[in-house]
Amino acid sequence: MARLRERLTREAPGAPAFLHAVPAGDLEPVLTGTVIIAGVGGEKILEILRRLHERRRLQARRLVLSPHKDEEFLAESLACDFASQWRLSPPRHVHEGPRVRPVWVAEAL
Ligand SMILES: C[S@@+](CC[C@H](N)C(=O)[O-])C[C@H]1O[C@@H](n2cnc3c(N)ncnc32)[C@H](O)[C@@H]1O
Repeated sequence: MARLRERLTREAPGAPAFLHAVPAGDLEPVLTGTVIIAGVGGEKILEILRRLHERRRLQARRLVLSPHKDEEFLAESLACDFASQWRLSPPRHVHEGPRVRPVWVAEAL
């Protein structure tokens, strides 16, 4: 954590960034603005979103979601379970080395 904090300070000086070493669904602050969830699978992203939502911590205007697996599951579940809360755009594709990652942007309704 100390090394991460030091790197964050060095690479993003002055940025309003904070480190929280907890499962994302258990974050204490209310999340506003743009929330990015990446680097985990689609099922985990849904689990995090559901937990934040049930704990009333998710008050973001926009979500940026990039699963590293279970992409279809995530897209279908978002379209079903969150249709009344989020407007989902078609996925964009971002190159990360040899991989192509899908990125969904959802705007709060
Ligand atoms: C597959 S690894 C990510 C690998 C990384 N994207 C990379 O390319 O090196 C998944 C990471 O998500 C973290 N993780 C799993 N569940 C999480 C949760 N609920 N909240 C936050 N992080 C979580 C794990 O600790 C692990 O570091």
